[in-house]
Amino acid sequence: MGISGNVSCLVLLVGLALSSLIVGSYAGNFYQDFDLTWGGHRPKIFKGGQLLSLSLDKVSGSGFQSKKEYLFGRIDMQLKLVAGNSAGTVTAYYLSSQGPTHDEIDFEFLGNVSGDPYVLHTNIFTQGKGNREQQFYLWFDPSKNFHTYSIIWKPQHIIFLVDNTPIRVFKNAESLGVPFPKNQAMRIYSSLWNADDWATRGGLVKTDWSKAPFTAYYRNFNVIDAKSSKSFSDSQPSWQTNALDAPSRRRLRWVQKYFMIYNYCTDLKRFPRGFPAECRN
Ligand SMILES: *[C@@H]1O[C@H](CO)[C@@H](O)[C@H](O)[C@H]1NC(C)=O
Repeated sequence: MGISGNVSCLVLLVGLALSSLIVGSYAGNFYQDFDLTWGGHRPKIFKGGQLLSLSLDKVSGSGFQSKKEYLFGRIDMQLKLVAGNSAGTVTAYYLSSQGPTHDEIDFEFLGNVSGDPYVLHTNIFTQGKGNREQQFYLWFDPSKNFHTYSIIWKPQHIIFLVDNTPIRVFKNAESLGVPFPKNQAMRIYSSLWNADDWATRGGLVKTDWSKAPFTAYYRNFNVIDAKSSKSFSDSQPSWQTNALDAPSRRRLRWVQKYFMIYNYCTDLKRFPRGFPAECRN
Protein backbone atom coordinates (compact mmCIF):
# COMPACT_ATOMS: atom_id res chain seq x y z
CA MET A 1 0.00 0.00 0.00
CA GLY A 2 1.43 3.42 -1.01
CA ILE A 3 1.16 6.67 0.88
CA SER A 4 -2.11 7.56 -0.79
CA GLY A 5 -3.44 4.15 0.23
CA ASN A 6 -2.49 4.84 3.84
CA VAL A 7 -4.00 8.29 3.72
CA SER A 8 -7.30 7.09 2.30
CA CYS A 9 -7.30 4.28 4.86
CA LEU A 10 -6.82 6.86 7.62
CA VAL A 11 -9.52 9.10 6.17
CA LEU A 12 -11.86 6.11 6.10
CA LEU A 13 -11.07 5.23 9.72
CA VAL A 14 -11.51 8.78 10.96
CA GLY A 15 -14.72 9.00 8.98
CA LEU A 16 -16.02 5.80 10.52
CA ALA A 17 -15.09 6.92 14.02
CA LEU A 18 -16.79 10.28 13.51
CA SER A 19 -19.96 8.80 12.06
CA SER A 20 -20.26 6.32 14.91
CA LEU A 21 -19.80 9.20 17.35
CA ILE A 22 -22.53 11.15 15.64
CA VAL A 23 -24.87 8.17 15.54
CA GLY A 24 -24.07 7.43 19.18
CA SER A 25 -24.94 10.89 20.37
CA TYR A 26 -28.14 11.33 18.37
CA ALA A 27 -29.91 8.04 17.85
CA GLY A 28 -31.07 6.12 20.88
CA ASN A 29 -30.59 2.43 21.39
CA PHE A 30 -33.57 0.51 22.71
CA TYR A 31 -31.39 -1.82 24.79
CA GLN A 32 -29.71 1.12 26.50
CA ASP A 33 -32.62 3.49 26.85
CA PHE A 34 -35.68 1.33 27.56
CA ASP A 35 -36.94 -1.55 29.69
CA LEU A 36 -39.51 -3.99 28.37
CA THR A 37 -41.96 -3.89 31.23
CA TRP A 38 -45.13 -5.72 30.27
CA GLY A 39 -46.31 -8.65 28.19
CA GLY A 40 -43.70 -11.41 28.68
CA HIS A 41 -42.21 -12.34 25.29
CA ARG A 42 -44.44 -9.90 23.37
CA PRO A 43 -42.22 -6.81 23.36
CA LYS A 44 -39.06 -7.37 21.32
CA ILE A 45 -35.90 -5.48 20.43
CA PHE A 46 -34.18 -6.19 17.11
CA LYS A 47 -31.33 -5.01 14.91
CA GLY A 48 -28.86 -4.41 17.70
CA GLY A 49 -31.24 -2.08 19.51
CA GLN A 50 -32.42 -0.06 16.50
CA LEU A 51 -35.94 -1.48 16.25
CA LEU A 52 -38.54 -2.37 18.85
CA SER A 53 -41.93 -4.03 18.46
CA LEU A 54 -44.92 -4.40 20.74
CA SER A 55 -47.61 -6.96 20.17
CA LEU A 56 -51.08 -7.74 21.39
CA ASP A 57 -52.90 -11.06 21.38
CA LYS A 58 -55.97 -12.34 23.11
CA VAL A 59 -54.03 -13.07 26.31
CA SER A 60 -52.11 -9.82 26.75
CA GLY A 61 -50.79 -6.59 25.34
CA SER A 62 -47.28 -5.33 25.93
CA GLY A 63 -45.29 -2.25 26.88
CA PHE A 64 -41.98 -0.57 27.53
CA GLN A 65 -40.69 2.44 29.44
CA SER A 66 -37.59 4.60 29.41
CA LYS A 67 -34.88 3.97 31.94
CA LYS A 68 -34.32 7.70 32.36
CA GLU A 69 -36.62 10.45 33.50
CA TYR A 70 -36.75 13.78 31.72
CA LEU A 71 -37.62 17.27 32.86
CA PHE A 72 -38.14 19.35 29.71
CA GLY A 73 -36.71 18.44 26.37
CA ARG A 74 -37.61 17.37 22.89
CA ILE A 75 -38.45 13.71 22.37
CA ASP A 76 -38.84 12.14 18.94
CA MET A 77 -39.89 8.61 18.11
CA GLN A 78 -40.83 7.00 14.83
CA LEU A 79 -43.82 4.66 15.01
CA LYS A 80 -45.41 2.34 12.50
CA LEU A 81 -48.81 1.37 13.81
CA VAL A 82 -50.77 -1.89 13.68
CA ALA A 83 -51.63 -2.53 10.03
CA GLY A 84 -54.77 -4.01 8.51
CA ASN A 85 -57.75 -4.42 10.77
CA SER A 86 -56.56 -2.67 13.93
CA ALA A 87 -60.06 -1.94 15.28
CA GLY A 88 -60.24 -2.12 19.07
CA THR A 89 -56.48 -1.72 19.55
CA VAL A 90 -54.87 1.27 21.22
CA THR A 91 -51.22 2.20 20.93
CA ALA A 92 -50.32 4.67 23.65
CA TYR A 93 -47.12 6.69 23.54
CA TYR A 94 -46.72 9.17 26.36
CA LEU A 95 -44.66 10.92 29.00
CA SER A 96 -45.72 10.54 32.60
CA SER A 97 -44.55 11.16 36.13
CA GLN A 98 -45.76 9.03 39.02
CA GLY A 99 -48.31 9.28 41.80
CA PRO A 100 -51.79 10.71 42.36
CA THR A 101 -50.79 14.25 41.30
CA HIS A 102 -48.82 13.10 38.28
CA ASP A 103 -48.36 15.02 35.04
CA GLU A 104 -48.81 13.34 31.68
CA ILE A 105 -48.50 14.20 27.97
CA ASP A 106 -50.31 11.65 25.79
CA PHE A 107 -50.43 10.44 22.23
CA GLU A 108 -52.91 7.58 21.79
CA PHE A 109 -53.59 5.93 18.45
CA LEU A 110 -57.03 4.38 18.19
CA GLY A 111 -57.12 1.63 15.57
CA ASN A 112 -59.77 1.08 12.93
CA VAL A 113 -60.94 -1.47 10.39
CA SER A 114 -58.88 -1.63 7.18
CA GLY A 115 -59.30 1.48 5.10
CA ASP A 116 -60.91 3.57 7.84
CA PRO A 117 -58.81 6.21 9.54
CA TYR A 118 -56.98 5.91 12.83
CA VAL A 119 -57.79 8.55 15.42
CA LEU A 120 -54.91 10.32 17.11
CA HIS A 121 -56.08 11.18 20.60
CA THR A 122 -54.06 13.65 22.71
CA ASN A 123 -54.39 14.68 26.32
CA ILE A 124 -52.48 16.58 29.00
CA PHE A 125 -52.65 15.88 32.72
CA THR A 126 -51.43 18.37 35.26
CA GLN A 127 -51.44 17.59 38.99
CA GLY A 128 -53.36 14.36 38.32
CA LYS A 129 -56.11 16.04 36.30
CA GLY A 130 -56.63 15.47 32.58
CA ASN A 131 -59.85 16.13 30.63
CA ARG A 132 -57.97 18.10 27.97
CA GLU A 133 -58.62 15.91 24.97
CA GLN A 134 -58.03 16.86 21.38
CA GLN A 135 -58.43 14.32 18.57
CA PHE A 136 -57.22 14.30 15.00
CA TYR A 137 -57.25 12.27 11.83
CA LEU A 138 -53.86 12.01 10.16
CA TRP A 139 -53.06 13.11 6.59
CA PHE A 140 -51.46 9.71 5.88
CA ASP A 141 -51.96 6.06 6.77
CA PRO A 142 -49.84 5.66 9.93
CA SER A 143 -49.62 1.88 9.49
CA LYS A 144 -47.93 1.99 6.05
CA ASN A 145 -44.66 3.67 7.02
CA PHE A 146 -42.78 5.05 9.98
CA HIS A 147 -43.69 8.61 10.95
CA THR A 148 -42.15 10.83 13.59
CA TYR A 149 -44.17 11.80 16.65
CA SER A 150 -42.57 14.42 18.85
CA ILE A 151 -43.14 16.26 22.07
CA ILE A 152 -41.43 19.56 22.81
CA TRP A 153 -41.74 20.23 26.50
CA LYS A 154 -40.57 23.59 27.77
CA PRO A 155 -41.50 25.70 30.78
CA GLN A 156 -43.45 27.99 28.40
CA HIS A 157 -45.39 25.39 26.42
CA ILE A 158 -45.90 21.84 25.26
CA ILE A 159 -46.02 21.19 21.52
CA PHE A 160 -47.18 17.93 19.90
CA LEU A 161 -45.74 17.36 16.43
CA VAL A 162 -46.33 14.84 13.68
CA ASP A 163 -43.54 14.70 11.09
CA ASN A 164 -42.46 18.10 12.37
CA THR A 165 -45.89 19.65 11.84
CA PRO A 166 -47.26 21.06 15.10
CA ILE A 167 -50.75 19.69 15.76
CA ARG A 168 -51.31 21.00 19.26
CA VAL A 169 -49.83 23.67 21.50
CA PHE A 170 -50.57 23.80 25.20
CA LYS A 171 -49.31 27.07 26.59
CA ASN A 172 -48.31 27.63 30.15
CA ALA A 173 -51.42 29.23 31.68
CA GLU A 174 -50.26 29.44 35.28
CA SER A 175 -51.10 33.14 35.22
CA LEU A 176 -54.75 32.03 34.73
CA GLY A 177 -54.47 29.55 37.60
CA VAL A 178 -53.92 26.43 35.46
CA PRO A 179 -51.14 24.17 36.74
CA PHE A 180 -48.39 23.42 34.21
CA PRO A 181 -46.14 20.34 34.24
CA LYS A 182 -42.80 21.70 35.37
CA ASN A 183 -41.77 20.17 38.68
CA GLN A 184 -42.07 16.42 38.12
CA ALA A 185 -39.69 14.53 35.84
CA MET A 186 -41.37 12.11 33.44
CA ARG A 187 -40.53 8.79 31.85
CA ILE A 188 -41.44 7.80 28.31
CA TYR A 189 -43.95 4.96 28.14
CA SER A 190 -45.58 3.03 25.37
CA SER A 191 -48.05 0.18 25.31
CA LEU A 192 -50.30 -1.67 22.92
CA TRP A 193 -53.51 -3.02 24.38
CA ASN A 194 -57.09 -3.97 23.68
CA ALA A 195 -59.73 -1.32 24.35
CA ASP A 196 -62.56 -2.49 22.13
CA ASP A 197 -65.07 -1.38 24.75
CA TRP A 198 -64.45 2.27 23.66
CA ALA A 199 -61.66 2.75 21.12
CA THR A 200 -63.21 2.31 17.69
CA ARG A 201 -66.42 4.19 16.93
CA GLY A 202 -66.92 4.49 20.63
CA GLY A 203 -66.82 0.71 21.17
CA LEU A 204 -69.16 -0.34 18.35
CA VAL A 205 -66.40 -2.13 16.42
CA LYS A 206 -64.74 -5.01 18.27
CA THR A 207 -61.27 -6.47 17.93
CA ASP A 208 -61.04 -9.24 15.34
CA TRP A 209 -58.90 -11.74 17.22
CA SER A 210 -58.49 -13.93 14.13
CA LYS A 211 -56.05 -11.19 12.98
CA ALA A 212 -53.92 -11.39 16.17
CA PRO A 213 -51.13 -10.88 17.03
CA PHE A 214 -51.29 -7.14 16.34
CA THR A 215 -47.90 -5.46 16.08
CA ALA A 216 -46.57 -1.88 16.24
CA TYR A 217 -42.95 -0.87 15.52
CA TYR A 218 -40.65 1.81 16.94
CA ARG A 219 -37.35 3.19 15.74
CA ASN A 220 -35.09 6.28 15.73
CA PHE A 221 -35.72 7.35 19.29
CA ASN A 222 -34.03 10.68 19.80
CA VAL A 223 -34.02 12.98 22.76
CA ILE A 224 -32.66 16.43 23.36
CA ASP A 225 -32.61 16.44 27.11
CA ALA A 226 -32.84 19.89 28.65
CA LYS A 227 -30.81 18.71 31.65
CA SER A 228 -27.84 17.35 29.80
CA SER A 229 -28.00 19.60 26.78
CA LYS A 230 -27.16 23.25 27.19
CA SER A 231 -28.05 23.63 23.55
CA PHE A 232 -31.70 22.63 24.02
CA SER A 233 -32.98 26.17 24.20
CA ASP A 234 -30.73 27.23 21.33
CA SER A 235 -31.44 24.16 19.23
CA GLN A 236 -34.79 25.41 18.00
CA PRO A 237 -34.67 29.17 17.90
CA SER A 238 -38.04 29.26 16.16
CA TRP A 239 -39.70 27.45 19.07
CA GLN A 240 -38.10 29.77 21.58
CA THR A 241 -40.88 32.13 22.48
CA ASN A 242 -44.49 31.22 23.07
CA ALA A 243 -45.29 31.69 19.43
CA LEU A 244 -44.39 29.26 16.67
CA ASP A 245 -42.76 30.78 13.63
CA ALA A 246 -45.07 31.82 10.81
CA PRO A 247 -44.83 28.65 8.64
CA SER A 248 -45.41 26.48 11.72
CA ARG A 249 -48.43 28.53 12.74
CA ARG A 250 -49.80 28.07 9.24
CA ARG A 251 -49.28 24.30 9.45
CA LEU A 252 -50.96 24.20 12.85
CA ARG A 253 -53.98 26.08 11.47
CA TRP A 254 -54.12 23.70 8.51
CA VAL A 255 -54.19 20.66 10.83
CA GLN A 256 -56.75 22.23 13.13
CA LYS A 257 -58.97 23.18 10.23
CA TYR A 258 -58.92 19.95 8.23
CA PHE A 259 -57.91 17.17 10.62
CA MET A 260 -59.07 18.05 14.11
CA ILE A 261 -62.18 16.06 15.02
CA TYR A 262 -62.55 16.90 18.69
CA ASN A 263 -61.46 19.78 20.90
CA TYR A 264 -62.51 19.97 24.54
CA CYS A 265 -62.15 23.73 24.29
CA THR A 266 -65.15 23.93 21.95
CA ASP A 267 -67.33 21.24 23.58
CA LEU A 268 -70.20 23.31 24.93
CA LYS A 269 -72.17 20.26 26.05
CA ARG A 270 -69.38 19.29 28.32
CA PHE A 271 -68.68 22.75 29.69
CA PRO A 272 -72.05 24.53 29.74
CA ARG A 273 -70.84 26.92 32.45
CA GLY A 274 -67.78 28.01 30.55
CA PHE A 275 -64.61 26.49 29.18
CA PRO A 276 -61.54 25.69 31.27
CA ALA A 277 -59.31 28.72 31.82
CA GLU A 278 -56.51 27.54 29.49
CA CYS A 279 -58.96 27.58 26.56
CA ARG A 280 -58.85 31.38 26.68
CA ASN A 281 -55.10 31.32 26.26
C1 LIG B 1 -62.96 4.72 12.18
O1 LIG B 1 -63.66 4.98 10.99
C2 LIG B 1 -64.92 5.58 11.15
C3 LIG B 1 -65.58 5.67 9.78
O2 LIG B 1 -64.80 6.44 8.91
C4 LIG B 1 -64.77 6.94 11.82
O3 LIG B 1 -66.03 7.49 12.08
C5 LIG B 1 -63.98 6.80 13.12
O4 LIG B 1 -63.69 8.09 13.65
C6 LIG B 1 -62.67 6.06 12.85
N1 LIG B 1 -61.80 5.93 14.01
C7 LIG B 1 -62.12 5.40 15.18
C8 LIG B 1 -61.01 5.24 16.14
O5 LIG B 1 -63.24 5.06 15.49
